[in-house]
Amino acid sequence: MSGLFMAWGNCGFGMGTSANSGKTCLVLGGRGFIGSHLVTALAAAGWRVRSFDRPGTSALAPFAALGLDPRVEVLDGDFTCQDQVARAVEGCDVCFHLVSTTLPKSSNDNPAFDVESNLVSSIRLLQLAKAAGVRRVVFLSSGGTVYGTPRLLPIPETHATEPQCSYGIVKLAIEKYLELFRKLHGLDYVVLRLSNPFGEGQRLQASQGAVAVFLGKALRGETIEIWGDGTVVRDYVHISDVVEAITRAATADVQSRIFNIGSGEGIALNGVLDGIEHVLGQKTRRVYLEARSFDVPVNILDIGRAQRELGWSPQLNFLEGLKRFAASLDVNVCGCRVDADRSAHRAGFSAGLSHRNPEEWSKGTEGNPEAAAHPFELRGRITASSRPLAARHEGRIWSVHSWVRFLIGPHRPRSSNGPESG
Ligand SMILES: NC(=O)c1ccc[n+]([C@@H]2O[C@H](COP(=O)([O-])OP(=O)(O)OC[C@H]3O[C@@H](n4cnc5c(N)ncnc54)[C@H](O)[C@@H]3O)[C@@H](O)[C@H]2O)c1
Repeated sequence: MSGLFMAWGNCGFGMGTSANSGKTCLVLGGRGFIGSHLVTALAAAGWRVRSFDRPGTSALAPFAALGLDPRVEVLDGDFTCQDQVARAVEGCDVCFHLVSTTLPKSSNDNPAFDVESNLVSSIRLLQLAKAAGVRRVVFLSSGGTVYGTPRLLPIPETHATEPQCSYGIVKLAIEKYLELFRKLHGLDYVVLRLSNPFGEGQRLQASQGAVAVFLGKALRGETIEIWGDGTVVRDYVHISDVVEAITRAATADVQSRIFNIGSGEGIALNGVLDGIEHVLGQKTRRVYLEARSFDVPVNILDIGRAQRELGWSPQLNFLEGLKRFAASLDVNVCGCRVDADRSAHRAGFSAGLSHRNPEEWSKGTEGNPEAAAHPFELRGRITASSRPLAARHEGRIWSVHSWVRFLIGPHRPRSSNGPESG
């Protein structure tokens, strides 16, 4: 199993197999992108794993590779069906809640469905978990949506929470119910506010996951559509690092309960495309469309708390993760051989990170009046050791090698006043 697992990434586990043998866990959403990696990793770490997902959901490659592993029990069911979830939760020590029936961009189309299928079903799950004696619930929340437009970068867990879509509101509400159940019933939990995961097994033809969607289009030679001018900055983290964080959250002795999980570094969409071009050794065709109102201009998570309390740090930088992802596609998707290392070397790509110059942010906030209203102050060190990348964008992309804190507002960060501050 460990050999199989290693083939899918750099997920060394903090917990040895013996520490987990005999423990049973439930992965709700076990055949999804993250769930399929998690199920594989947990089985490799000695857990008895029960995967629960919708019937007919096609298993992603990591999950399918498990075959008939006796440590993995596969249950088909609907998260909104209480009886089916009750059977799945029975006898579990840890429950990983990875189901989401909605996506950020479409969640505003039908908030009532979002609340009914995600929030109400999650509350029922907590009731069932309490009754079944589950020791900890690990919930995958969203670091990209619960904070809204950041006032401070990188965003700490204590930042104000002002989600701009139903998906983020529901994620936050589930977090609040987790805390309520802890207070009322002693149900232990850990929330992971995840940034933008990417990597092997991610669907290339999906409606979310910019890295995968761009990579797929680049490999198929299709034009890549970018909402806005490509200067929207996100925090991308490789799936192997995400899975490592989730597995640690299952057993870690923690003081806090909410953790940001990301790379802690920001890359503009144009930087993602530059990286893809370098890894593939080919140019992409890009078309820039009108910006979307719900896209916050920048999101970079402060991962210090996870580093301190979970003993976790991302191991792969963006370019390394991208190379792995692209290299995994030669058999699975395109039949085209991707020699990521050689392409990247030929193109002379530096793994420097691309940030938008803060002066440019204010020009790129047309779709977001709240962000546009704030002047920026930049504090921190910017180095230009990847100048060629920056130069190609006429000075609009900065390459950053150390922490840069962008303080948004009139020269001082607003104090953290989120409900979960503490
Ligand atoms: N991928 C991201 O960019 C990202 C970012 C932050 C947080 N998250 C969260 O992480 C979790 C996992 O994300 P993912 O990328 O693996 O998503 P995914 O869509 O690949 O996996 C979710 C799984 O849940 C299952 N599911 C959905 N509705 C169900 C239902 N009614 N009953 C049973 N199963 C159902 C789906 O079939 C799917 O296999 C989600 O909660 C998501 O909100 C994801």
